[in-house]
Amino acid sequence: MRAIAPAAGSTIAIDCRLDGSAGSGLAEDVLDGLTRPFKELPPKHLYDERGCELFDQICELPEYYPTRTERGILERDAERIVAGSQAAELVELGSGTAAKTRVLLDAMADAGLLRRYVPFDVAESVVRDSAEVLAGAYPGLEVHGVVGDFERHLDRIPAPQAHGAQPRIVALLGGTIGNFPPGSRRRLLRQIGALLGPDDALLLGTDLVKDPAVIEAAYDDAAGVTAAFNLNLLRVVNRELDADFPLEGFAHVAFFDRRNEWIEMRLRALRPCSVLVRALDLRVEFAAGEELRTEISAKFTRARIAADYAAAGLTLAGWHSDAEGRYALSLARPSGGS
Ligand code: SAH
Ligand code: AVI
Repeated sequence: MRAIAPAAGSTIAIDCRLDGSAGSGLAEDVLDGLTRPFKELPPKHLYDERGCELFDQICELPEYYPTRTERGILERDAERIVAGSQAAELVELGSGTAAKTRVLLDAMADAGLLRRYVPFDVAESVVRDSAEVLAGAYPGLEVHGVVGDFERHLDRIPAPQAHGAQPRIVALLGGTIGNFPPGSRRRLLRQIGALLGPDDALLLGTDLVKDPAVIEAAYDDAAGVTAAFNLNLLRVVNRELDADFPLEGFAHVAFFDRRNEWIEMRLRALRPCSVLVRALDLRVEFAAGEELRTEISAKFTRARIAADYAAAGLTLAGWHSDAEGRYALSLARPSGGS
């Protein structure tokens, strides 16, 4: 791994709440999700080191528009977002490699506000690497990384900095909120809302509803990178729980569910398949054609986002979309008096 020296006055601290697959809850999720009548695993387990690398490749694909669209909106509007929030601190949930984050950090630094960055991700390697890169790039930046599950460890986010009552932005970018089904999504938004002081804001990236063909192409690219990303989940289970999923026995499936307005990734068994998960002493049978759901990725409208915010005790306070209406970054603040 690279060794990058922190810039003058920058510091790095990493709080690791997870201990490999044990901490991520993989065993419980496999036991629970693979013994249901309709098999399912939560998408957070897609992101081991290889999964993070494959996701980065997805972000560069011609079909995968969300990343470059979100980046374009940030490049156009980050200055305005920062000026409106006066934030000195950025807490980023599901931060990944934090590549787009630099657009926001640059705007905060240019405004003379930037003090602390808190990357929070379930993948330890990306938290450590991005902390190192960003502490090297921004003099005086305090980086406090958290390796954890943002459904369980939000309490590990450090309290706002003592020096000064400067606001902070809590960001959840990339459309990651769409990977949660509606009920969990609102619960997570409520939990994030509880982190916000009266002058803080949530900055949320959401992919918007559009032509299903465009969405399906983004999740089933010609180069097969998304298929490899999806199938990598089976590698994770094989490695971490000593299972024997035959990777060649499963195919990547992505389809847009028009009623729910979300895309689903699934893995379809190409033939009858009996899988032993040795660490759990569990045998799992797949019929030919049976599918395992590995991800949903919800697509939003402005009305749906406003309704989710309202249900979570938040108020839509800003809307930044691209000219074609493909993607939106919205700002939310705590609803007064609730
Ligand atoms: N924000 C980045 C990365 C998005 S990929 C971007 O916009 O490009 C989703 C990221 O969220 C991954 O890095 C993954 O490891 C992380 N993630 C997914 N579920 C998580 C969870 N429950 N807790 C913490 N991080 C999670
Ligand atoms: C991280 N998340 C928002 C991505 C998405 O688009 O739902 C993950 C992804 N899955 C397939 N391609 C990208």
